[in-house]
Amino acid sequence: MKNMLVTGGCGFIGTNFIRYILEESDFEGRLINVDALTYAGNPENLKEIEERFPERYVFIQEDICDADAMRRVFDAYKIDTLCHFAAESHVDRSIAAPGAFIQTNIVGTFNLLELARKNLDRLVLFHHISTDEVFGSLGPEGYFTEETPYSPNSPYSASKASSDHLVRAYHKTYGLPVTLSNCSNNYGPYQFPEKLLPLMILNALEGGSLPVYGDGRHVRDWLYVRDHCTAIWRIMKAGKRGETYTVGGNTEMENIGIVEMLCDILDGLPVPKIHCARRALIAFVKDRPGHDRRYAIDSTKLRRQLGWQPEESFETGLRKTIRWYLDHRDWVDRVRSGAYQQWIASHYGE
Ligand code: NAD
Ligand code: TYD
Repeated sequence: MKNMLVTGGCGFIGTNFIRYILEESDFEGRLINVDALTYAGNPENLKEIEERFPERYVFIQEDICDADAMRRVFDAYKIDTLCHFAAESHVDRSIAAPGAFIQTNIVGTFNLLELARKNLDRLVLFHHISTDEVFGSLGPEGYFTEETPYSPNSPYSASKASSDHLVRAYHKTYGLPVTLSNCSNNYGPYQFPEKLLPLMILNALEGGSLPVYGDGRHVRDWLYVRDHCTAIWRIMKAGKRGETYTVGGNTEMENIGIVEMLCDILDGLPVPKIHCARRALIAFVKDRPGHDRRYAIDSTKLRRQLGWQPEESFETGLRKTIRWYLDHRDWVDRVRSGAYQQWIASHYGE
């Protein structure tokens, strides 16, 4: 792995992955980050990385749906490894406007696979990042494994399922060296405040409403983002080509339990007081259409075969995450405003 293309590296997980790879892992090559900088991408997250690793880190603002632009990147940087994060990632947005999900998640992935196929002679690995949401919804019992049939319920999960199938097919048909990971809900630093945890942390901090969908008894299996990054790198290095690994933290939580937990943690921290105990801010609102009831991952294959295990418990990870959002109010203000678009313009001259 000499020249690794990371797509979507300015988003939540991509940012954490790039930091982990350059600061902590044994990767020795060059990392090329291609990101279109949608509302969810913020190159400022990696400013420090740009300064510390000028020889090994390159940022290129491009859209993975632009096949010609991506071909130029492949040729110029002799890409031999891909770690593909770029996606539209928010379920609620996919319900409101699915078009971009079809373009980026399906067509964009197809473009990258085609380029990988055309450069098969030098290709070491195409690693595809996916989600447990492709498996649909669980009842009160059982877990998703690598053998679970696909049954996506939202435009987001259907578009991710489609991309997973394309990746698998390119392995079977053209012999592309691929690995796939289907991970549960991530949380941690740099997550855009439209997703449950950062949204609730910030609203609770500011005394705003905490909108819990439906009865709040929906279950997700939470994984701290750095633990996801270590899993990805382990799979990239040692995973069997052509195979899928499910990744999860064995941390099933009901949404309402999470919101109550973070209200109590914030009430106990030296943060500005609000007019009430934060649990009083919880508001049960109209449920999300097609809302999956429960996700839970069995990651035995990854743990047994590749020796991976997560480091954070939900409690330690949540406390770190809350601390990060408290310490990065400038980041929050910028991603919520148009100001960081101006930063991009001044920094990258556009
Ligand atoms: P994110 O929305 O925070 O970041 C997505 C990034 O992709 C952004 O930087 C955005 O600018 C970029 N992007 C979007 N469209 C693009 C395009 N056409 N061309 C180039 N770049 C584009 O998402 P995330 O939460 O970091 O998720 C990253 C990946 O991990 C996605 O593939 C997602 O499906 C998967 N995943 C996420 C979770 C989770 O809990 N967040 C869990 C499992 C899997
Ligand atoms: P989300 O962070 O959007 O992730 P995903 O839909 O990919 O699992 O939502 C996590 C859970 O929290 C999901 O069950 C929906 C719920 N939720 C709320 O109850 N209120 C909210 O405001 C949001 C954004 C999510």
